[in-house]
Amino acid sequence: MGYIGSHVSILLLEAGHDVAILDNLSNSSVVVLDRIKQITTRLPEFYNMDVRDTSNLELAFIKFHPDAVIHFAGLKAVGESVIDPLRYYEWNVMGSVVLLQVMNKYQVKKLVFSSSACVYGDVAEMPITEISCIAPTNPYGQTKAMIEQILADLVSSDQGWSVARLRYFNPAGAHISGLIGEDPNGIPNNLPPYISQVAVGKLDVLKIFGGDYPTPDGTGVRDYIHVMDLARGHLSALNYLSNESGLLTVNLGTGHGYSVLEMVKAFEIASGKKVPYRIAERRSGDVAISFADPSRAEQLLGWKASLGLNEMCRDQWHWQSKNPNGYRSSCAY
Ligand code: UFG
Repeated sequence: MGYIGSHVSILLLEAGHDVAILDNLSNSSVVVLDRIKQITTRLPEFYNMDVRDTSNLELAFIKFHPDAVIHFAGLKAVGESVIDPLRYYEWNVMGSVVLLQVMNKYQVKKLVFSSSACVYGDVAEMPITEISCIAPTNPYGQTKAMIEQILADLVSSDQGWSVARLRYFNPAGAHISGLIGEDPNGIPNNLPPYISQVAVGKLDVLKIFGGDYPTPDGTGVRDYIHVMDLARGHLSALNYLSNESGLLTVNLGTGHGYSVLEMVKAFEIASGKKVPYRIAERRSGDVAISFADPSRAEQLLGWKASLGLNEMCRDQWHWQSKNPNGYRSSCAY
């Protein structure tokens, strides 16, 4: 029920699937359920629980009888993971092992896993393909790489498993309705919600982490992907797993990199608001450039991102301006 899970749930419900959401609400809100209902006219089942809680997880499996699991649960702030690595290993790695044990016990062997471009670390050659080296530069990325390895070992041990490892690049934007979007706890870590909170007046100024990278304008370059394109990628992966067993590993990105300053400019145009910024120190653990080669996802899944930077900024702004305080605001609907 977090940022990506909520958008995927909408597409699953619209495609006629029954959906149960399991979430400990550490970085999400139950209001999302109402919003999903407004968009799809359907209400997913909801279990307020932690993925590390074996007995409640088993109860949810017994009650809901899933055919497949999409595993989004995890902590995702790079900086925080450097300060508190044990928490990241416990939540992300242990949580995944518990989930896999329960799936194994109940013979549910189809899994789509939210991995991250973070597993690649500082890659010299762009674009990044799936065979680029796995060398994460921070504990968060390490947890994703470890879980990926666990999944590979599991698939080799038992041919009954079908697992997709989706390596997300940088999600941005929101559902076109403006009813759901990203609502991080506290100060956002990531660029898109930070920019939109500056534009809406919640934050004063964007600090750009580094103006001296070896990029055309000196600011970091990333592959921003519309969250609805990313969500569609999950449905394509699920579809693939219904016919194939084994391990699928694909990048989900657009193949285009944009700098922080290009993002700021595009957002100013989409919102009609000024986004004041200042250049600050580089953020530790950041790489200069990261963008995907998404061709494998197109070949294997028939999936390709279709929305561009303008749509991402438009939809991010629509969500933020309708919900200036995220799900805590009483919004105009
Ligand atoms: N940035 C700023 N100011 C901010 C926030 C970010 O200048 O306040 C810059 C960063 O330095 C970087 C770019 O904006 O150049 C993107 O930063 P994000 O924090 O939005 O994204 P990252 O690329 O660091 O990491 C994100 C997710 C990870 C994921 C990774 C995949 O946080 O979970 O993308 O590439 F693994």
